[in-house]
Amino acid sequence: MDSWRPWREAMRDALYGDAGFYRASGVPGRHFRTAAHASPQWADALLALATRVDHDLEQPADFTVVDLGAGGGELLAHLAELSPRGWRLVGVDVAPRPAGLPVQVEWRAALPEAFAGLLLAVEWLDVVPVDVVERTEDGLRLIEVAANGAERLAGAAPRAEADWLERWWPLAEAHDRAEVGRTRDEAWSAAVGHVQRGVALAVDYAAVPARDVAGTLTGYRGGRQVLPVPDGSCDITAHVLMESCAAAVSAGDSTLTTQREALRQLGLSAARPAYSGEASAYLESLSRVGDAAELLDESGLGGFAWLLHAKQTALPL
Ligand SMILES: C[S@@+](CC[C@H](N)C(=O)[O-])C[C@H]1O[C@@H](n2cnc3c(N)ncnc32)[C@H](O)[C@@H]1O
Repeated sequence: MDSWRPWREAMRDALYGDAGFYRASGVPGRHFRTAAHASPQWADALLALATRVDHDLEQPADFTVVDLGAGGGELLAHLAELSPRGWRLVGVDVAPRPAGLPVQVEWRAALPEAFAGLLLAVEWLDVVPVDVVERTEDGLRLIEVAANGAERLAGAAPRAEADWLERWWPLAEAHDRAEVGRTRDEAWSAAVGHVQRGVALAVDYAAVPARDVAGTLTGYRGGRQVLPVPDGSCDITAHVLMESCAAAVSAGDSTLTTQREALRQLGLSAARPAYSGEASAYLESLSRVGDAAELLDESGLGGFAWLLHAKQTALPL
């Protein structure tokens, strides 16, 4: 078989090639659940965040919110309903513009050159293609994959990959493996470079090297976790080493926290409401609290990492 390729190449073609998984419209909502699908309270919280950034920038006339990897556009559709009229809202995705997206939301294949405002990248970095490396008795070896998902050990990991692993995700024992986040560091640094003034936020599930000794590469299809097969039929994703992404951006202040902590600072609460004497209002409040609890759950969406950078402005959290 001559179709063996490093994971980075295979993942790139499977997700973003002409017939790639992400080339169709509305793919994320059909295959997995993100915070944007869980509850409108997520968008409310991001609106609160954007409002803080707008305020700190002294409400520039061209205040822009860009959602990089906007998927089905759910977040932007909600922001279009609630945000001030003058805000520019931009979705960036390789997928076509979602049907029914409000007209005031722009949809593009690439980031605007430079803007003042808020850059959001929610579950984007985890689908930036990565190489996979395994420690063997004779050192670090790249893993290659065939179109049916079969894997084999290839040659020695290139110097740059080995250096990255040594710094961020050391592989201690034979058979330990990891995804090399160098491509994510470069992608994040380039994306943040488009923010002239304002804040960049990446939200993703974080890799923890001490825990993830077998790596984290996996697939999703139709709401189920599946083996990652690079044939365009499923999502292929790997957790993100957020600390290395943070270090790749030199400009401004940055902070790394959990989604739970960030959402609480933005006013989300799962506290049980007091009974008001009106049954239907009470049930509605209980339902909102249930949705909030899902977003704040430490072992689920609340455990996601928030990485923020502020350029020529204050950190909003
Ligand atoms: C995991 S989905 C997340 C979607 C959405 N942010 C959400 O939270 O529901 C990742 C999205 O990033 C998009 N994407 C990945 N790489 C991209 C790139 N280089 N440029 C534009 N969009 C990209 C994919 O097409 C996909 O819609």
